[in-house]
Amino acid sequence: MAIPKSPDQMSAQEAAAELARLAKEIASHDKAYYLADAPRISDAAYDALRQRNAEIERLFPDQIRPDSPSVRVGAAPSQKFAKVSHAVPMLSLANAFDDNDVVEFVSKVRRFLSLSEEDELTFTAEPKIDGLSAGIRYENGKLVQAATRGDGEVGEDVTENVRTIIDVPKVLSGNDWPEVLEVRGEVYLPHADFEKMNQEQISNQKDPYKNPRNAAAGSLRQIDAKITARRPLRFFAYAWGLVSNEFAKSQEQAIGLLAKWGFSVNPLTKVCSSPLQMIEHYQMIEARRFALGYDIDGVVYKVNLLSLQQRLGFISRSPRWAIAHKFPPEQASTVLEDIEIQVGRTGALTPVAKLKPVTVGGVVISNASLHNEDELRRKDVRIGDIVLIQRAGDVIPQVVKVLNADRKDRSAPFEFPKICPCPLQTRLKRDLDDKGEPGAVTRCSGQSACPFQKVEALKHFVSRQAFDIEGLGAKQIESFFEEGIIGEPADIFLLSKRVDDLKLAEREGWGETSVANLVAAINAKREVPLDRFLNALGIRHVGQGNARLLAHHFGSIDNLLKQVTRLTAMEELLAIDGIGEAAAGSVIDFFTQSHSAEMVQRLLLQVSVLDMDEPESDSAISGKTVVFTGKLQHISRDEAKAKASALGARVSGSVSAKTDILVAGPGAGSKLKKANDLGVKVLSEDEWIALIAR
Ligand code: IVH
Repeated sequence: MAIPKSPDQMSAQEAAAELARLAKEIASHDKAYYLADAPRISDAAYDALRQRNAEIERLFPDQIRPDSPSVRVGAAPSQKFAKVSHAVPMLSLANAFDDNDVVEFVSKVRRFLSLSEEDELTFTAEPKIDGLSAGIRYENGKLVQAATRGDGEVGEDVTENVRTIIDVPKVLSGNDWPEVLEVRGEVYLPHADFEKMNQEQISNQKDPYKNPRNAAAGSLRQIDAKITARRPLRFFAYAWGLVSNEFAKSQEQAIGLLAKWGFSVNPLTKVCSSPLQMIEHYQMIEARRFALGYDIDGVVYKVNLLSLQQRLGFISRSPRWAIAHKFPPEQASTVLEDIEIQVGRTGALTPVAKLKPVTVGGVVISNASLHNEDELRRKDVRIGDIVLIQRAGDVIPQVVKVLNADRKDRSAPFEFPKICPCPLQTRLKRDLDDKGEPGAVTRCSGQSACPFQKVEALKHFVSRQAFDIEGLGAKQIESFFEEGIIGEPADIFLLSKRVDDLKLAEREGWGETSVANLVAAINAKREVPLDRFLNALGIRHVGQGNARLLAHHFGSIDNLLKQVTRLTAMEELLAIDGIGEAAAGSVIDFFTQSHSAEMVQRLLLQVSVLDMDEPESDSAISGKTVVFTGKLQHISRDEAKAKASALGARVSGSVSAKTDILVAGPGAGSKLKKANDLGVKVLSEDEWIALIAR
């Protein structure tokens, strides 16, 4: 066996190759250790590999890989934890980036609730903890289960690990808690404990963790809860999921009760009665941010009264009643080494800055977005420039500005391509904005014929939020696509019949077992719920949130295909609470253009799309189709639509024989006439309110 070369004798090229090899080898040992609980090498040999990796990275910082073992922190994702379905989904929060967004948020809430400026409306304001969220279920006051957020619908069972957290009561104090109570909050690691933990990592010759959040995540997801117990994790309670009975009238009261029952709640929580007070509290928290002893990344505002929270409900994946006011992003400067043009799955061209790697907020960054041609030109970013970059949370890093703009020795301005860099070399098009003027996005005109778009669309199709096919990731898709084995989604499902012809098992990196696993993973996804199916199609403006709205509205793929190709499709789609014009238009385009419609038909020969369950509701309007027309006096149109959907009704934009109820306010015109002609039940706003209050 050749003696490995000493890092200080290596060329940059050799260092890059060795780092690539080490990344792969260490990842495979991690997998054996974490997933199979079967380490293949001794701890000392494993540590030696990581040390070699760290030494080469120290000597060749430019060569640090995005998948470097020193960047990839925490335990490898485990399949060892049992899955837990959240009875109430764990949602995320919309963001406010400046004071204006906060003012706008408050106005929107007022508009939705039809409140005037004089009506009282209070909010709680509290720090947004930068950790990971967990839901902890109590039955009769006893902790019975704890789960991570996961994708919001399904998380992982981390009960034993959560039991080790000192802030989490194993038995609730008092006796006035609901029989079933799921408390939600953030698991985090205080700075002092993080430092101590890293000292230990270093003295055990292990890589230190990059930041407290990663350290907390790694600690919570330890297979062995005894290890978690040695990590001083903490927990702030700030919300709840499933509860057997209402236990409070306001957010403030609920948090007070959680504290009484034994939870730690954040002491910087305050009730505010105006946007000004909210912003003042934000500024106070921001000023104290670095003295708190734990990481926070903003302030969360929540409508205080729970009855109003209930009325406001949710839009897509976030509540209408809360928002996260984020702190400004962290920044750093570095050299821009190159500009690459990437073609995304919708054909949008994105210039990407290739950077000399730099650490921003604990993460090594080597790529940053330059957004589009106009942005690139406006910022006049040129190769070789020193640029200021910023990164906020998990958002893609961005180039803020050039720092050496007045230097004479800069390279020539960057020439944005005139034709698409994709193999079709198509003419580039600009999207039109609302006024019909050319917008900022430059697009490849190859559409479904463009191989770059196709491969990105396929990667999206198999991704976690879509079909979630295990073992078929971006890399495999790329190589199957390049070889012409997979050209469109249906081909993925045809692959299982072709493995022998293709001699898949004989390929490099494959074997009998991995082929069998892939076939099983593909076959496991031959049945798919409608919302995942729609998200997977990659229709513009239809992500996870809108896919869910469409799925719940139409219920089945057959109904959707029928409705979206009708002349009334636009009205029908716009009536769905949360679907706007852009999404509605692109849904119609997608299902009426022959290439995409036929692609869907071929896919439907391979998979069965499961109908959505009718929402469980025994309300008077459950399962009914309702249309609103004219002006509503007491509630806003948005609230009316949201409420009807929440009670299990379908809100439609046009009156037809299928309409069950038309709610008609003053000024109702043709829809009222048509409803009368068809004998559809017509209600006034007051009659409607009385009906849904029953
Ligand atoms: S309330 C319905 N309050 O932020 C949403 N979330 O971006 C309920 N987070 O997933 C969340 N501190 O992990 C809420 N004081 C706080 C929070 C907080 C941190 C996290 C939470 C959530 C994420 C949303």
